[in-house]
Amino acid sequence: MSAESHPESSHLVVVGSTMIDMLAYTNKVPHAGETVIGEKFALGFGGKGANQAVMARRFGIKVSMVNTLGDDVFGDTTLTNFQEQGIDTTFVARTSGASGVAPIWVEPDGTNRIICVPGANNAMTPAQAKSALESLKSYQIVIGQLEIPQVVTTQAFISAHQHGAITILNPAPFAEISPDLIAASDWIIPNETEFAAMHPQGLEPTSDEIILELAAALKTRFAVTLGEKGAALTTLDGRVIRVSAPTVKAIDTTGAGDAFVGSFAVALALGYSEEQALSLGCACASDSVTRLGTQSSYPTPAQAATILASIAG
Ligand code: RIB
Repeated sequence: MSAESHPESSHLVVVGSTMIDMLAYTNKVPHAGETVIGEKFALGFGGKGANQAVMARRFGIKVSMVNTLGDDVFGDTTLTNFQEQGIDTTFVARTSGASGVAPIWVEPDGTNRIICVPGANNAMTPAQAKSALESLKSYQIVIGQLEIPQVVTTQAFISAHQHGAITILNPAPFAEISPDLIAASDWIIPNETEFAAMHPQGLEPTSDEIILELAAALKTRFAVTLGEKGAALTTLDGRVIRVSAPTVKAIDTTGAGDAFVGSFAVALALGYSEEQALSLGCACASDSVTRLGTQSSYPTPAQAATILASIAG
């Protein structure tokens, strides 16, 4: 195990999205032209960037968010949520218009279907990312996703490298990724579907060889999430390390991938081994599917400390 840092001296930056999640829990999803009666509804804080920031913050490390919110009530409440969580919002901007929203359908087995409408997230600019990452000091990790313009994430990662930080791209929701963004990503964390979408022949990550070949072709490192089967990462010396996921009863999988990304990044920032980072990601993702909602499904700081202690051995 490498020497671990104290949470207070670790700093992670998320350059990414915010959404207000509109969760409808239903026993049956409608066909085209059909109306169904749902079971339950909840509004919650979401957006892959915000979720990853909140998950990371639960471990007590310093987290800065770089985002643009609209000038609506959703923007106000999202800003308040970040502040209540202790997330640095110095580089959260506001613009006129609507904040991001995400209508989400969740079925009884926890499966979700999500439509993101990015709104103000699309007003983010490369200059905003550059200015934030040049002003912030002493961060170790910068995380991005695909819910804001890719040129913004690319600029953020270039600035992060000038600062000596590690960059992590979560290619979700999947879109063709620009070569510049791939080149600026030290780690890419796709799920099985996103991995297959990145693969030239559409192959899923069913073997070590497939994962290693794509990592070599893209000159990046992968931490691939495999749902109930756990996760796999590529090592610097060309091997694959796998960890299995704890067995749990899923009731809502929304935000589980973000729990993985945020906690994996925290473990790297704290100096844990990459295998421990993979284990922490799996543990937090599995834990989150046992509770309803997105950020509302994440462990409390005390629960997060217990999970971290369990993987630290
Ligand atoms: O990954 C889950 C998230 O995807 C939700 O919070 C939703 O807002 C979308 O961004």
